[in-house]
Order: sequence, then structure tokens, then C-alpha cells
Amino acid sequence: MDDLRQIYHLEPPCGLMNDPNGLSFYDGKYRVFFQWNRFAKDHTHKEWGAFSSSDLAHWDFDGSAIVPDQPYDHSGAHSGCAIEADGQLLLFYTGSDKSAGIRRSHQCLASSDDCRTYVKEGVVIETPQGFTGHVRDPKVGRLADGRLRMLLGAQRTNGMAALISFASGDARTWAYEGVIGTSDTVEMCECPDHVTLDGQEVLLYCPQKRDNARDLGLESHACFQVVDEVAPGSAAVDLDLGTPVEPGSDFYAPQTFVAPDGRTILIAWMDRLTDDQGRVLSDACQTSGCLTVPRELGMCQGRLTQRPVRELELLHGSHVSLSSEADGEVVAKPSSRAYRLRIHGLEGVRALHIELNGSSERIDFDAAAGELSLTRTDWVTGCAQTVSRPVEGLRNLDVLSDETSVELFDNDGEAVVSLRVLPAGDSSDVRIVGITDLAQIEVVGMCRR
Ligand code: FRU
Repeated sequence: MDDLRQIYHLEPPCGLMNDPNGLSFYDGKYRVFFQWNRFAKDHTHKEWGAFSSSDLAHWDFDGSAIVPDQPYDHSGAHSGCAIEADGQLLLFYTGSDKSAGIRRSHQCLASSDDCRTYVKEGVVIETPQGFTGHVRDPKVGRLADGRLRMLLGAQRTNGMAALISFASGDARTWAYEGVIGTSDTVEMCECPDHVTLDGQEVLLYCPQKRDNARDLGLESHACFQVVDEVAPGSAAVDLDLGTPVEPGSDFYAPQTFVAPDGRTILIAWMDRLTDDQGRVLSDACQTSGCLTVPRELGMCQGRLTQRPVRELELLHGSHVSLSSEADGEVVAKPSSRAYRLRIHGLEGVRALHIELNGSSERIDFDAAAGELSLTRTDWVTGCAQTVSRPVEGLRNLDVLSDETSVELFDNDGEAVVSLRVLPAGDSSDVRIVGITDLAQIEVVGMCRR
């Protein structure tokens, strides 16, 4: 079972991981917290686990930061964010409190001076009038005047989703500002975030269909929307107009932070699988859930771009030699499924076919159809599952393969497909068909994070 541990993607030390939380840089280190069930590979318990890194590539597991041990968070220390204020790292999270069949949520604060001990300061925001017990996932940013603004995913008492905001001068007392966005089609909006990219205001959020009568999540995805302004009081953003961040479905609950050098970096949970896929993958592995690699965000012609951060190169191991076969195919045999394949100079290629890990996963580009696709073998049904996107021309590909995942970035991150995989065999062979002499191919083994 051990050999299915991811080599360079963040996974929990035991149990289950979902959303990334509290992404930040504090006290000289990058911080990634995450939703963690340390006891079992299911969602019955949620605390905040913690990782830190000095270089965004090598990570240490630092134990637990917030456990659900208070009346206001006894049903789970749910997702939230981190921000540095007055020398402290402040963690804002949702305390879930379900008693006697009633769901309540409280927005809570824990603070730290050293990221070794965290002091719970208690509830800082109670749900305002007009909203149900579904108010969660605080994301705090700093306004131009120095105050803090918190975005929250919410459900109105009419059962439909909204994004709301609060503002604070001292991080402890918060005033309700109003509604930022509303939806007429989904019942909840999880994990909101707001970034400014290239002078444009971008909202990220996860619309969720719910069965309100049974209080059950049905389906959801991560999307983004360029908006004029993220401010309550002005016309509410129509949350139904979002564009999916990725064409695939495994990517969920992205969160961003701004690194000291100004880059906006995103990390997401990479495990939004069907129940059957999730169960079989989690049974096959020691732990459940993993995060994407850190990605640098940008905006290009209204499109959100994502590229692996350059620091990932610190994990590059040795180059894998390429052999050219008689019929123009190129073959590489990395020693494990943890490798990176980069191809540049693809301009002019009309059709490209790449097989990864034997032929467990496949990438296909068809210039005539204007389509790029990533196919995995569904490990439950054995059938092919393809995620495709329209692409006018292909310039380059960057493929991050790990023991149980593949992330495909094309054209400098114009689009990304992140997929969990569970290959049937041991093969990590790569076979490339359709390459021209102008293309440069590089395959490197990836080292342990
Ligand atoms: C998103 C989410 C959040 C919630 C957390 C609980 O995946 O449902 O809305 O805070 O997970 O683990």
C-alpha cells in the first residue's frame, strides 16, 4: 500500500485531507493548513492540520493547529484562511455546531505568535439575519484603507446561495457589510476568494447544488468570475455567471495567497471524485485526499492562467533518457510515476498522442478538431474518462505525474486538467507519437517533497 503514497503532492500523514486552508507566508515560511480527519478516511471529524515550507517545494508536517474542542466548533473546525496582523498569524475558520438536528455556524479566530501554539480567541461573527446555518469558509483580505474584509459563502433564508462580507479594523470586531453576490440556481456557495490579477478583480467560489430538505450537498465545482468590483452595496454579482476554473471535476476548494514577491499562488484540493471512485481510491491508498501543486495565477484575455510555481524545479531529479523508435515515436521510462514531462515547440503539430503510465492515461491533441484531451482509465468501471478543452493551437505542455495523480498544463497554463488516477499496472512508461523535429522534450524524475 505504501507505494501509492504521493511523492511530491501534499497528503495527510493519516486519515483524510480535504480543502487547503490558511495559505500564507509567516515567520519566514510558507504555511499550508488543511481540513483533516486524523482518525479515519471519511468526513466525520474536521480539524486543521499544518504544513510549512521554506521554498514551496519541500514541506514539513507540523501537526495540528485547530481541533474542534469547544461548544462553538464541536462538530468541526471547518475551512478558513490566515492573515498576518500586528506580527501574529490569525486563523479564521468556521466552527460547525450541530445539536438536536439544528445546524449552526460561527466564524471563529485562533491566533499564533510562532505557528507552534495557537490560541483560540472564540467566535468573532455570528450569522446575520436573513441567512441559514450554511455560512462558512471565511476569506480575509486587506482593503486599501488598511481595514480587513471577510468574504463568506452563505445561504439565504429562501434556500439559495449568496456571498456576503464583513469588515473590521482590529480583526476582532466585525461589522456586517452586506451581500456581494447571489445565485438563483444553486443553494450554497463554498470557499469564496478574491484576487486582483493584472488590475482585474476576480472572484473564485464553489457553487453547490444542495437538497435543502435533506440538508445534503449534491454537486459542486470551482469557478471564477471577473467582476467590476467586490463590494457590498453595489449591484450584487450574479454568481450563476461563473466559468469553471478547470474543465475536469477533481479540482475543488481552491484558495490563494500573495507570496512576499507579489505572486498570487493557488492550491486546491484534488479529490472531488464520485463516491465509488473515492471509496476505491481511498481503500487502495494509506490515506485519502491530496492537494494540487502550488500554482502561480495570472490573467490572459479574460482567462485565468495557472502554472506550477518555478520552485517545483527544486524537486527535479535526474533526466530520464529518451529513445526514438523507428516509426518516429519517442519513449521514456521513468523509474516511478513521479515525473514531469515538458514539451516545447509544439507549434505546427497537427496531431499528438501521448501515453502515460503504460497507456493508463492518455493526452490527445487534434488540431483539426481544435481539441486537447486528457483521458484516464476509470479504476471502478475500467472505462475511459475523457476531459477535453477547445484549444486553437498547441505551443507547449507541462505534465506533472505522481503516484496517483496527473496535472496537465497546456500553453503556459492557459488551461489545466487535474485528475486523480489509479493505474492498474506498475508501468510508468511514457510514449509520445506525432512529435516533430522542432519539439523539445524533457522528462525528469520528481524527488520527495
Ligand atoms: C468544501 C467544504 C467547506 C467546508 C469544508 C468542511 O469542500 O465543504 O465548505 O468548510 O469542506 O471540511
